[in-house]
Amino acid sequence: MPIAAARPITTDDIGIATLHHTPDRLTIRWSDGRESPYPAIWLADNRPDRRDRPDGQRLFDAIDLPDGIAIAGVALGADGAVEIHLTGFDSAARFPAAWLRAHALDPASRAERRRRPVLWDSSLVLPTGDYATVAGDAGARAAWLRAAWDHGFALLRGVLVEPGMVCKVVELFGFVRETNYGRLFDVVAVDKPQNLAFTALSLGNHTDNPYRDPVPQLQLLHCLEAAAEGGESVVVDGFAAAERLRREAPDAFALLTRRAVPFRYVEPGRGDLPGRVDLRSRAPLIELDADGALAAVRYNNRSIAPFDLDPDEVEPFYDAYRRFGRLLHDPDLTVGFRLAPGDLFLVDNQRVLHGRRGFSAGRRWLQGCYADKDGLTSTLFSLEAAR
Ligand code: OGA
Ligand code: ZN
Repeated sequence: MPIAAARPITTDDIGIATLHHTPDRLTIRWSDGRESPYPAIWLADNRPDRRDRPDGQRLFDAIDLPDGIAIAGVALGADGAVEIHLTGFDSAARFPAAWLRAHALDPASRAERRRRPVLWDSSLVLPTGDYATVAGDAGARAAWLRAAWDHGFALLRGVLVEPGMVCKVVELFGFVRETNYGRLFDVVAVDKPQNLAFTALSLGNHTDNPYRDPVPQLQLLHCLEAAAEGGESVVVDGFAAAERLRREAPDAFALLTRRAVPFRYVEPGRGDLPGRVDLRSRAPLIELDADGALAAVRYNNRSIAPFDLDPDEVEPFYDAYRRFGRLLHDPDLTVGFRLAPGDLFLVDNQRVLHGRRGFSAGRRWLQGCYADKDGLTSTLFSLEAAR
């Protein structure tokens, strides 16, 4: 695994230097110089003795807290816990110092808790794991999932060359998300394809199924047979491209975050049968979270529907859309590789786009499936916390 697993922050070497309080807030100065304020109502709401277990569920509702809570006194216990007397409570609340550090509200502490994706370009060394090791060893599984989470992409080699294994890989960390394509789907060239993925044509870089709401958050593709010629895979970090757009053309970036576009996928009926599938969604191509950080990208030229925009905005929107699209295919940002039988890749389908070159000679067979991120992150964080 070429990627060092980022470890969660620890407080092993960081202690409390000083405690200071006013009625409204406690302030801790830590031994590394960081200063963290804790408002009185926040302390009352987070009293450890009002939880089922230290990391368990809260036993009361914030609406039942007394009004006007103030800090009446603060002391450092013999075991290093901070004892806080809050008005309206009979007993002192005892907060472990490590808990206070882990949940501190100063800007540096808050920034540490945010997800920090590792953005990459064409120089990426593909994060790679070995199936037997990842399946058999919890540490290796954590490292592979960490690499996948940080990069939005990871390869797994040495997966058995057997149909259905793509779901077995999902079961190492989460749950398969079934769709109209089935629990898993075969990516093979067929005679009368409903979807251009099931041809030998090249596929431009895309995220899968933006016409679903919610969109599948993870996609896995497992190679059972490689084409004799062509069919190489391409991936690109949509977050890296979006950040470049934000830097180089902030107005274009802002427009793509503020306008929803429609996506649609239809499977028409055959003969007298009505259509089986009519999937529709509306969402921005670049989605931000409440902090203005990137939350998701969507890009799929096959299923993007006619823009539904104010006519005066159509031209600037096309400029922004085409500029983003060119970045998503820029050789400086894309990475190409060839899947051999037994290779599988996982992408964060809300961040990393994938594509394939066309193929001509020979049969080619991939199996794909979808999953959601909560299974991956839950397994990852549990494995990391146990280390
Ligand atoms: C897909 C797809 C890529 C490939 O099925 O979603 O993008 O390499 N396939 O066939
Ligand atoms: Zn795809």
